Amino acid sequence: GKEWTGVSELVEDMAGMEVLIRGRVHTSRVSSKLGFLIVRQRGSMVQCVVTESKENGVSVGMLRYVKQLSGESFVDVIGYVVIPKDPVTGTTQQVEIQVRKVYCVNSALQKLPLIVEDAARSEADIQAGKPGANQDTRLNYRVIDLRTPANQGIFSIQGWVQIGWREYLLRKGFLEIHTPKLLGGSSEGGSAVFRLDYKGQPACLAQSPQLHKQMAICADFERVFEVGAVYRAEDSFTHRHLCEFIGLDVEMAIHKHYSEIMDIVGELFPFIFNKLNENCQKELEAIRKQYPFEPLKFLPKTLKLTFAEGIQMLKEAGVEADPLGDLNTETERKLGLLVLEKYNTEFYILHRYPSAVRPFYTMPCADDPNYSNSFDVFIRGEEIISGAQRVHDPELLTEQAKRFGIDVETIKTYIDSFRYGAPPHGGFGVGLERVVMLFCGLNNIRKTSLFPRDPLRLAP
Ligand code: 4AD
Repeated sequence: GKEWTGVSELVEDMAGMEVLIRGRVHTSRVSSKLGFLIVRQRGSMVQCVVTESKENGVSVGMLRYVKQLSGESFVDVIGYVVIPKDPVTGTTQQVEIQVRKVYCVNSALQKLPLIVEDAARSEADIQAGKPGANQDTRLNYRVIDLRTPANQGIFSIQGWVQIGWREYLLRKGFLEIHTPKLLGGSSEGGSAVFRLDYKGQPACLAQSPQLHKQMAICADFERVFEVGAVYRAEDSFTHRHLCEFIGLDVEMAIHKHYSEIMDIVGELFPFIFNKLNENCQKELEAIRKQYPFEPLKFLPKTLKLTFAEGIQMLKEAGVEADPLGDLNTETERKLGLLVLEKYNTEFYILHRYPSAVRPFYTMPCADDPNYSNSFDVFIRGEEIISGAQRVHDPELLTEQAKRFGIDVETIKTYIDSFRYGAPPHGGFGVGLERVVMLFCGLNNIRKTSLFPRDPLRLAP
């Protein structure tokens, strides 16, 4: 029972010690007398030197064995930790291993469909003439693609966003819940639902936890959040739409005003961003090396603008936008730039949207029903969150659902929940992949989904 040492744990203090490591063959250069294997384990690399010598017990036959090891194969290496005269600079550990034995644990194909180094090339590398791999090939062989330093970083960041999300909300007295993903009717309205047969009954996959997170408020949980899969049968083939994504949702009782919900958003996200900046410098650096980006500019106290103020800013810049319509991708981007110029932030809340462009469950403003107690939140000019106060009066809710063309029979149990007594409440929904994409200034949401699902992709 010899213990394995992690590659990242190999340090100069261990010089002279015999160690056993397990990792992949990252690269190998082997001649008849001498071989160099770079072994990679979870992003850390170490150079292993195989020298033919009786003293080390390394024969010519062993070098031949090492030579035929294919790249990305798993190996166990036993050897002594040494401090090299000419260390490999850059990405490997400062120490090397003088090899005594190498065992192949499991070999990879001699010819892989995707080379990790090709997947890791930056645009600049490719332009400089180094071979690269296109996005489709990378996604087709995602298990290989995910081994690049940038991808390892991206999914660490994704993990840390969820850590920050949970830490902040638990501290504020929210309870983590799970709502059903199999529903009898659509939760957001519209046609973008995956329909299925539920033992002979028509059903669909949840487009959001919307209805049940509100019902959790009717059930007295007062403050809840969820991290879970959301399904959208999107026809749009864009850089920011997936057919399955991870939704971060919040729902909470409020006392007086929907600003209570915006206050949570406005504190929560700077908390998350600070957490990423504090804990993920190595990961951000790895991402930036392949996909250069500027750190996100955000204010400790999140900027809030009304939709009308946004329209006015656009107008002053010569961009016309309908004050009772919605912004489109382009006007959102433009407004993002104007906000950056004027307020020096790339993260802000836009609220009091026109009612006509919000879902049926949204509370209209008391002073003008053309507008609603709702908001969107943007990073670098792109939407990451939408939220609102909800209608808690069952009659108004029924009326609004009908007006949006929803068959109220399919959401009867939801509407009835408000007949049994319900507090004023509201919440918001966040797309996890969008947060990571935009925090890191990436250009495609497929980069931040482990195994993305889009209208053309159901595998791997
Ligand atoms: O704006 P959406 O559709 O809002 C809701 O689902 C509401 N129930 C939220 C609420 O509590 N009022 O979705 C919320 C967020 C969007 O802001 C976006 O970040 C993300 O989910 N999103 C998507 N992400 C990836 N692919 C898609 N197709 C997405 N559609 C929405």
